[in-house]
Amino acid sequence: MYAEAAFDRPFGPAWNPLRQMGTLTFFYFWIVAISGIYVYILFDTTVGGAYRSVEQMTNQQWYLGGVMRSLHRYASDAMVISMALHLSREFIFDRYRDVRWFTWFTGVPLIWFLFIAGVSGYWLVWDMLAQYVAIGSMEWLDWLGIFGEPVANNFLVPGSLTDRFFTLMVFLHIFAPLFLLFIMWIHVMRVSRPKVNPPRGLALGSLGMFVVLALASPATSQGPADLTQVPATLNLDWFYMFLYPVFDKWGAGPLWGLAIGVSVMLAAMPWMPPLRRPKPARVYLDKCNGCTRCFEDCPFGAITMAPRSDGRPFEQEAVVDADLCTSCGICVGSCPISTPFRSSEKLVTGIDLPDLNLKQLRDRTQRTIEQAGKPGIVVFGCDYGVDIKNIDNPGVHGLSLPCIGMLPPSFIDYTLSQDGVDGVLITGCKECECFSRLGNRWTTERIAGIRDPYLRKRVDRRRLEVFWASRINGKELKSELSKFRRNLDKIGDGQ
Ligand code: HEM
Ligand code: SF4
Ligand code: SF4
Repeated sequence: MYAEAAFDRPFGPAWNPLRQMGTLTFFYFWIVAISGIYVYILFDTTVGGAYRSVEQMTNQQWYLGGVMRSLHRYASDAMVISMALHLSREFIFDRYRDVRWFTWFTGVPLIWFLFIAGVSGYWLVWDMLAQYVAIGSMEWLDWLGIFGEPVANNFLVPGSLTDRFFTLMVFLHIFAPLFLLFIMWIHVMRVSRPKVNPPRGLALGSLGMFVVLALASPATSQGPADLTQVPATLNLDWFYMFLYPVFDKWGAGPLWGLAIGVSVMLAAMPWMPPLRRPKPARVYLDKCNGCTRCFEDCPFGAITMAPRSDGRPFEQEAVVDADLCTSCGICVGSCPISTPFRSSEKLVTGIDLPDLNLKQLRDRTQRTIEQAGKPGIVVFGCDYGVDIKNIDNPGVHGLSLPCIGMLPPSFIDYTLSQDGVDGVLITGCKECECFSRLGNRWTTERIAGIRDPYLRKRVDRRRLEVFWASRINGKELKSELSKFRRNLDKIGDGQ
């Protein structure tokens, strides 16, 4: 959070690269794919011609072939960094459990395929680095004993590496990225409205950065491969090859143990304690009119619209898939029936959270209003954003929800219409940081009147403040509240 806050200053929340690591990895993939196609056009796929063709494109066509080669390399390296940061971020923010298990789980083969694609690319240059990496990889594979003949035998003496085997290596380097792309598609398949493209400025900025790097420090080869010699000095690409020195030191068996052990541990993480599973949302058919708003707003694709099953004169009804529901409550905020302006017995909505239903939400709102005192400010916040439970500003009291998107806009109207309430402050996770993915976005759009159910026009917007912040922004919230208080006092004085 502190790192993100530091990046927020120059980039702003929406362009903060730390929040865009998944989308940037996608974008870098496209750079790698396009530059790879160009490099392939100039590439000679024979053992004898490969090195020469790469040298030619680097030296004779440095302005295009050379730049494309460098883009191909640097964007591939960047994919390792952005993927590692993306993985770490999802882990640190605890966004890998429950319904997110599928996305996390499918991330693990992505690591393998990214490395297969990257390492196999280095083979094709057929320089001394390629020789070292190809032989190391084959010896590592041979340890498994699944190939009749040791594959590393292809690299014993000059002439043992045939064009056919080399073409096979070229195919591996083409199919591994294609498979990577396929798994990337599966990876985001269960994410509803996945964001796979970074903001344009960030994309252009990083592309520009690669071009500058390509011109300032073009990718080069390290002398032609020579199977009669063991390469003595090599510059490894540490992003892809950090395990090769480990292989040299430990040998194949322990490295297999490490690679498989880490993969299994990563894959099993969504099921590691602490496991908590709040009760999923529940549809109340006698209140649901099949308007589809909850279906459109659910960030986890947990709601489907099914043909009506209760004979009421509506075409559809909402159905919750309990396995996909994170109990964020955003659907409660979407449902037009979720309004507090009704008598207690009638306070049932179309879709509700068993652990915090609409009636409890209104009771808690009422209690918060009383605790804030007069003239009071009521803060609606979220369990993942800035902690509002212990605000000690006088005349302020907070109510925390599973996600700020759970708050139906009519509750803002309701709260402001209560005697003694001076203002309402809404807070939740920062832009692009929402734990429930879309809660802060839907809230913004509902307040702005561009998403149903929207905040009624009659609500005095001067008495409403919105403050998106992360958990570490307690001090900033306090100063925002003081500023809000001063503004409210001015309104009270008729200024
Ligand atoms: C080639 C590498 C990868 C790419 C291109 C990629 C891309 C993405 C994208 C675009 C999203 C959707 C973001 C959104 O709209 O909310 C996403 C989500 C996610 N990724 Fe990755 N990812 C990669 C690797 C990984 C790895 C290695 C892991 C972990 C093992 C991982 C874990 C996750 C998780 C848990 C989410 C779900 C977040 C949520 O539902 O809020 N990803 N990824
Ligand atoms: S609680 Fe959240 S995840 Fe569950 S159905 Fe409602 S919007 Fe979807
Ligand atoms: S938003 Fe409410 S009324 Fe509309 S489909 Fe969902 S549960 Fe039914």
